[in-house]
Amino acid sequence: MATPRRVAVVVGSLRKDSLNRKMAQALAAIAPPSLSLEIVEIGQLPLYNQDDDTNPPAASVAFKEKIAGADAVLFVTPEYNRGVPGVLKNAIDVASRPYGKSAWKGRPAAVMTVSPGAIGGFGANHHLRQSLVFLDMPALQQPEAYIGGAGELFDESGGLKKPETKKFLDSFLAAFAAWIDRTAKPAA
Ligand SMILES: Cc1cc2nc3c(=O)[nH]c(=O)nc-3n(C[C@H](O)[C@H](O)[C@H](O)COP(=O)(O)O)c2cc1C
Repeated sequence: MATPRRVAVVVGSLRKDSLNRKMAQALAAIAPPSLSLEIVEIGQLPLYNQDDDTNPPAASVAFKEKIAGADAVLFVTPEYNRGVPGVLKNAIDVASRPYGKSAWKGRPAAVMTVSPGAIGGFGANHHLRQSLVFLDMPALQQPEAYIGGAGELFDESGGLKKPETKKFLDSFLAAFAAWIDRTAKPAA
């Protein structure tokens, strides 16, 4: 069997009981054999400062290396005030610089937004897609993944309560795997 694609999962919430983290963990647990999902932490990153481009903080360098070592990136994020949470935008900025040395460039991406609210983080999902255009990350279009009512999805141990949720997540991961096959750049 071919080596699984390494997917860096970036979670846009630092909260201990984050629904988005639970979702990321659920996705990792059910991913097909062709994908290997690993959460890459962002909570330790200093705030991006362009003055540091010549001598970036060690945590930023390490994060950037993890993204650069991945075949693809899956963003799983809440919506804050109809947009991308600041911690996630910071992580995106950190790994995008210095100019011309972005770790994101060319990596296939998928976006899932997860919210207890009814509209499933639609605003953040598309706000994030705006950055993906500039970062030159080919982003999976379908199925769109605006996961609403997320407070009802997980049992106490983080398992998925409803079969229809798993069915959708399976279809999302299958589409992402096919998208990576179509759009990933061949290894240099
Ligand atoms: C600062 C802030 C802003 C929020 N804004 C939105 C919003 O615009 N849309 C939404 O659906 N939920 C919003 N929420 C509620 C979050 O969706 C909810 O707290 C969710 O559980 C956060 O994700 P997490 O569980 O992964 O931490 C907001 C929460 C916070 C703390």
